[in-house]
Amino acid sequence: MKPKVFITKQIPEEVERYIAEHCEYSIWEEETPIPEAQLKEKIKDVDGLICPKANVTESLLSHAPNLKVISNIAVGYDSFDTELMESHGVLGTHTPYVLDETVADLIFGLILSAARRIPEMDKFVRSGQWSSMEDTSLFGKDVHGATLGIVGLGRIGEKVARRAKFGFNMNVQYYNRSRREELEEKYGLEKKSMEELMQSSDFILTMVPLSPETTKLIGEKEFSLMKQEAVFINASRGKVVDESALIEALKSNKIRGAALDVFEQEPVDAANPLLSLDNVVLTPHLGSATQQARDAMAMKAAENLVAGVTGQAPPNVVKE
Ligand code: DGY
Repeated sequence: MKPKVFITKQIPEEVERYIAEHCEYSIWEEETPIPEAQLKEKIKDVDGLICPKANVTESLLSHAPNLKVISNIAVGYDSFDTELMESHGVLGTHTPYVLDETVADLIFGLILSAARRIPEMDKFVRSGQWSSMEDTSLFGKDVHGATLGIVGLGRIGEKVARRAKFGFNMNVQYYNRSRREELEEKYGLEKKSMEELMQSSDFILTMVPLSPETTKLIGEKEFSLMKQEAVFINASRGKVVDESALIEALKSNKIRGAALDVFEQEPVDAANPLLSLDNVVLTPHLGSATQQARDAMAMKAAENLVAGVTGQAPPNVVKE
């Protein structure tokens, strides 16, 4: 008998065919997320679950006594309570590697958009404000040759460093728990203390995973250390930044600007002050959202799922 699995989101046909070869499966076909009560009903006899950003709780797991693996279609796994899952004998898996370059592309888009004020220029042209005179109020800040500080030099941070160094001749420095000597050599990087990094970077990117240690890692103190011309970029998780402190720094022009793909609360509330600030570029947490990356992520999630329910070791088990 094939193991049973449930999938809470539509997946590419090829991925569905792969799962069908190995599992008996059903899929939540609606566009809206599955309500918790229905999810609990659906998982009561399954061995595996694909559930992007599953909010894994005791109550959820107690409804799924046969569950062996929860496969996330994302690299971040802050929605997993890994201790709780372990106590229920449930493995958590995620989808690293296949999205790194894609997210790094968006990060560069954010850096360029904020520095060169592309959304403001677009609005300017569309709204008919372009007269024959050049408008100096839209002048931006150079990216090439500037100093980029990366907080959290993991897989994606490395891809950004490569683009920065070889594409834009930037001076790249980083703050990371451990030293990355091989990357220092490869890209001419310099490890700095958090304080030094804040003080000496023109662009500051946070790419740390969310954990109790990284929650509000960037707050009032960090913004106060930044250059007044600094641009802050976040494409990891919104909660690694104290959003109120960021809003204050942007409002008071303590820093030049920001570009954000992630927020403390998602989707962003219409009343969030960030929405009314011109010196911030906003995207709706879509760093990995290209068709190619998302298809590859779905396939990786399926491979993790199938391995987990057929007694093999999934290739991408999450680690604390
Ligand atoms: C990821 O893969 O973690 C992206 O941020 C989507 O959540």
